[in-house]
Amino acid sequence: MTMHDTPTIALVGPGAIGTTVAAALHEAGRTPALFGRTAHDHLHLRFDGGEIRMPGPVRTNPADVETTFDLVFIAVKTTQVEAASKWLSALCSANTVVCVLQNGVQQKDQFAPYLSKDRVLPSVVWFPAQREVDGSVWLRATPRLTLPDTAVAQVVLTALRDTRCSVDVAKDFTSIAWRKLLQNAVAGLMVLTGRRAGMYSRSDIENLSLAYLTECLEVARAEGATLGNEVMREIIEGFQRAPIDLGTSILGDRQAGHPLEWDSRNGVIQRCARARGIATPVSDLIVPLLAAASDGPG
Ligand SMILES: NC(=O)c1ccc[n+]([C@@H]2O[C@H](COP(=O)([O-])OP(=O)(O)OC[C@H]3O[C@@H](n4cnc5c(N)ncnc54)[C@H](OP(=O)(O)O)[C@@H]3O)[C@@H](O)[C@H]2O)c1
Repeated sequence: MTMHDTPTIALVGPGAIGTTVAAALHEAGRTPALFGRTAHDHLHLRFDGGEIRMPGPVRTNPADVETTFDLVFIAVKTTQVEAASKWLSALCSANTVVCVLQNGVQQKDQFAPYLSKDRVLPSVVWFPAQREVDGSVWLRATPRLTLPDTAVAQVVLTALRDTRCSVDVAKDFTSIAWRKLLQNAVAGLMVLTGRRAGMYSRSDIENLSLAYLTECLEVARAEGATLGNEVMREIIEGFQRAPIDLGTSILGDRQAGHPLEWDSRNGVIQRCARARGIATPVSDLIVPLLAAASDGPG
């Protein structure tokens, strides 16, 4: 493939984020092959002012895969990587770029058992999307991704060029990924109250969020992120300005009784801190509660 050819594209995990990216590609005439855990004959994305229906099928058996792809998007939860890894050997050649559409800052490490690190492209996913009971996905903002500014990012830029999902590249991806992680970490508090963005208007939750962010920011900086103190206010005010019913995918998982991405969204900060001897009293309270919630109900 040259830089100007359209890459062949597969997508593993057509859930909230996967459906959004797949539908954006389909709309631009670059329909990806779909692979997942549950079979579907089509995907359905809804958003303000429109919808996209994309024909399937979503295939569920790696043994049926007959070809490898230039680009594979992975949009399973971080708790599902091991189970989904069987797709990687089926879909990837030595040249395949695997773009990970997941929260967190350790995508390369998480995929290291299955793929060479230089083929793994982490991303920051900026848009909220949620699965609805009718099987459709409700996209609640304009889709946008940020990628590290590396040579392998080119294939994703080519694939998503002129689609409704915009892509930018960042020289300092570390800072952007940690900025998003801090936002995700604080969003995890919703799991502990069973509430949505409306709760951040309480002054006690605002203070707790600030204490947690102060701790997380110290870890982010120790890990190489260049972030000013203002990000803490920006994150809290972002939640305060959001629609009061805006949730977060970890809350959706909690309410559905699914395993939680507590380790990649909250535990990782505590782990990085421990490795560097940084005290994390707020994480030490929050992380075990999230971990325990993930195991429940009994
Ligand atoms: N949703 C958001 O607003 C949002 C925003 C930013 C970032 N993120 C991050 O994006 C990532 C994906 O989240 P999501 O909300 O899109 O999750 P999701 O809606 O649960 O989608 C996950 C998809 O992966 C499929 N899957 C599960 N196990 C699989 C396996 N072994 N093989 C193949 N497919 C498998 C699921 O199938 P089933 O249908 O069988 O469950 C589902 O289609 C997460 O890291 C999340 O934190 C989400």
